[in-house]
Amino acid sequence: MAEPPSSLTPEEHAPLADLEDWEDFVVLRYPERGQPADPAKDRDAYRNYDTPARDTVREFYRLNHTYQTYEFVLQKEKEFLSLDRKRLTPWEALEYLNTLVDDSDPDIDLSQLDHLLQTAEAIRVDGHPDWFVLTGLVHDLGKVLCLFGEPQWAVVGDTFPVGCAFSDKIVYSEFFRFNPDIHVPEFQTPCGIYEEGCGLDNVHMSWGHDEYLYHIMKPYLPEPALYMIRYHSFYAAHREGEYEYLMSEHDKKMFKWVRAFNPYDLYSKSPEPPNLSELRPYYEDLMAKYLPSTLTL
Ligand SMILES: [Fe+2]
Ligand SMILES: [Fe+2]
Repeated sequence: MAEPPSSLTPEEHAPLADLEDWEDFVVLRYPERGQPADPAKDRDAYRNYDTPARDTVREFYRLNHTYQTYEFVLQKEKEFLSLDRKRLTPWEALEYLNTLVDDSDPDIDLSQLDHLLQTAEAIRVDGHPDWFVLTGLVHDLGKVLCLFGEPQWAVVGDTFPVGCAFSDKIVYSEFFRFNPDIHVPEFQTPCGIYEEGCGLDNVHMSWGHDEYLYHIMKPYLPEPALYMIRYHSFYAAHREGEYEYLMSEHDKKMFKWVRAFNPYDLYSKSPEPPNLSELRPYYEDLMAKYLPSTLTL
């Protein structure tokens, strides 16, 4: 009943008017602590949480939780991880991602590149190592999956392991009742098809921009950066402490980096777009230090 239909309706393909509606929703779930209250911001947040935008987020999760099965994930890994779609310089890859424009008013929204630069700049201001700054700059590059025609719910959204029981701490976990894997007894024990403590590298995660970009960046970035990229949407683990039984001791240590990265992703948004021409030389040099002259997506 719940295989994704071979052709999706436009609503099933892109339930969100704006891809960022998902991230805005995550910020509402995990508001920044220790910040002075901003009534205007709160009012906006409340409005978003309580209106059609929120219904589209709910529908987005219904589709995500229904169709992200173990089999779907294996199929997407096979389809995309050969990395043979597109060859671009790192800067061209950022510009390519930036062609992703949503339905909502583009004059109001920050671009994809604005979000990446704001994240990277917030990391830089705090004096972190340059590879951490670079991670901020590229962390959402995997969203080019949208430009390859993938539905929103197979690009963004909280990620979670497949092939084992779904945690009830995953947002809108009630929608997993529509996921066919719920009827596969092998998949429905806490460890499912995996061994306890096997390490997340042996676990298949729901398919999206995190896993895809991890494979693109794997040869080039230090391990903490790769953890940040691969698990930044795995909120059930890094915010809720779930799925520890699948982690190795090494994963548990490395997750401190995932948690260190998350606030920059969630809380660095500012309405003021960064000055691209001023920042570009620094970031081109930074990419040249770590990345090859051509990236293969
Ligand atoms: Fe992301
Ligand atoms: Fe992000």
